[in-house]
Amino acid sequence: MSKSEIPKNHQYTENARGTVSWRSPSNIALIKYWGKKGFQIPSNPSLSMTLSDSFTETLVKYSLTQNPGTISFDFYFEGARKPQFGQKIATFLETVSDIFPFLKNFHLEIHSRNTFPHSAGIASSASAMSALALCLRSIEQQITGIENENDEFLKKASNIARIGSGSASRSIYGGYATWGKIASWEETSDLFASTLKTNIHPVFRDLRDTILIISKNEKLVSSRAGHGLMVNHPFAEARIIQANHNLHELLEYLDSGDFAGFIKVVENEALTLHALMMASNPGFVLIQPGTLQVIEKIRDFRKQTGANVVFTLDAGPNVHLLYPKHQTKLVKDFINDELIGFCDENKFIDDKLGFGPQKLK
Ligand code: PMV
Repeated sequence: MSKSEIPKNHQYTENARGTVSWRSPSNIALIKYWGKKGFQIPSNPSLSMTLSDSFTETLVKYSLTQNPGTISFDFYFEGARKPQFGQKIATFLETVSDIFPFLKNFHLEIHSRNTFPHSAGIASSASAMSALALCLRSIEQQITGIENENDEFLKKASNIARIGSGSASRSIYGGYATWGKIASWEETSDLFASTLKTNIHPVFRDLRDTILIISKNEKLVSSRAGHGLMVNHPFAEARIIQANHNLHELLEYLDSGDFAGFIKVVENEALTLHALMMASNPGFVLIQPGTLQVIEKIRDFRKQTGANVVFTLDAGPNVHLLYPKHQTKLVKDFINDELIGFCDENKFIDDKLGFGPQKLK
């Protein structure tokens, strides 16, 4: 944007300061987004389950800046300045300032906190970026006075969140959400996510997710670098075909309540994600011996008990254990008896399918 296009501060004087705040959850992908084409466009559609209790709360105070034309903000994470996050936010705000020109007229004071412990090995970019995107969307509404329909509000928030972190686009919606163009599905797009409106069988409507913290160390290879290694990856083309195939199968199982089918697809996606990492050039390994031991235990337990319990993995060593609510006792006993010993300081986080973000202010 040229300097002359930047709105003058006096255009904003009526709503020159205010505070907005959103709570936004993390999500766990069942069909994984891994690899992109162009700027934040996914190579394949993905599908995730939005979580409930692992969320970020972000509060933004905005006021007219003394230096219009530049991005100006202070960022506090759990009460303290965090320069390593600040840089990421600076890049994000600069990138979205084409969409939100007001960003060059206002100073932002951003306060953020997570309910899940930082450095617990839980990816926080989905909740953090979606919470910030929603705050920016609310500021836009307040200073322009233009109220959008809820659908439009969320769609644009999802588009903005995607620019910060692809998976964050899905956290804008509760329940199950997809992101990325699905052939013949009108409402799907590479630019924003949408909530899954197809029938969801009752067995999948109250899914629990217990996240077993195998390691809380920061991962050595970022998602950004991992996505980058999918360019010229020998299996890239096959992966796109597989992901689309798995997505359609999963949609059928979510509808019919076929838990065995659900297990087959979800575990295939988790293992494929890490196989793709290992087959990259250079290859990298994010799972740990404990991850594999836990997977083996889960598969044994399932064989012995016939329980509906399934694992998935994020881009890291921690294991998400998904199961229907009515099996909570059985699975929690199993975790306490057999899995907890593999968890870093015996840590795990209990979460479940959630309803999506909430406006706090
Ligand atoms: O949103 P990003 O760029 O951090 O990438 C997320 C990648 C995975 O978490 C591994 C998969 C997904 O779809 O969430």
